[in-house]
Amino acid sequence: MKRCELTLPKIEATLEQSEEWLWVSDNGFNKRRLRLHDYAEIYDIPGLYERVFCDMLKSRSWEVIPSMLSYEINKSSKNEDSLRVLDFGAGNGMVGEALLSQMECERMIGVDILPEARKAAGRDRPCVYDEYHVIDMSQIEPATRKKLTEFRFNCLVTVAALGFSDIPTGAFVEAFNLIQDRGWIAFNIKDKFLTNRDDTGFARLVKRMLNDDILDVRFEQKYRHRFSIDGKELYYSAIVGKKKRDIIFDDFNPGD
Ligand SMILES: C[S@@+](CC[C@H](N)C(=O)[O-])C[C@H]1O[C@@H](n2cnc3c(N)ncnc32)[C@H](O)[C@@H]1O
Repeated sequence: MKRCELTLPKIEATLEQSEEWLWVSDNGFNKRRLRLHDYAEIYDIPGLYERVFCDMLKSRSWEVIPSMLSYEINKSSKNEDSLRVLDFGAGNGMVGEALLSQMECERMIGVDILPEARKAAGRDRPCVYDEYHVIDMSQIEPATRKKLTEFRFNCLVTVAALGFSDIPTGAFVEAFNLIQDRGWIAFNIKDKFLTNRDDTGFARLVKRMLNDDILDVRFEQKYRHRFSIDGKELYYSAIVGKKKRDIIFDDFNPGD
């Protein structure tokens, strides 16, 4: 397939991340808008996700979160179980690949809502996942939950997938509760979802996770996730910890 041309638009006002877009064309022809959150369309074109997010917008989360997680695990103890990882919102497999390059994992299971994501991971990174499931975790069937429980996950990674129109709070809770107690949890979230103005439930949940008996936080840091299409720095918080207990409804009382 011919390499398409990508051009950042000149926009007047900063857009919400879920509204961002750029121009894409084939050698100047068929010029059209591509929304950055049109993941299905982006995954369908080999290398496009990497060009847009890594090359143009300097996204770093796909390597920052696995690095922080492996650093904390290595620091923690010599008697850790081998990792059985749930990569939730796995996309085309960049996070799973980065983690595997740093840690030995007994199992690496990808889950994403999009069949295009699974296809892209299989096409571009065929050796990363032992299994990759297309699941809407916000409406998970009991049989699917039971099947996932059988993996006895002791590690959850969710990168660049929480908030906006991506993974809702309830779906993240489902994934969190699939992890065994004392398992590792690593995720990132945009700082605005941690403010009191946020009403998606993430703010309430993460605050409880950080201050309460849900997560033994080992690492928390604000860092530059990527640039916006108009060149502004977008900051996220990276959080790594060990799970203490399941999340219950009262911990977040979701508004989404
Ligand atoms: C920005 S991509 C991040 C992909 C990958 N984690 C990375 O960092 O490269 C967000 C991913 O979350 C997935 N996603 C959004 N909503 C989801 C949901 N409800 N359940 C599972 N995955 C979801 C999208 O399909 C997309 O692949």
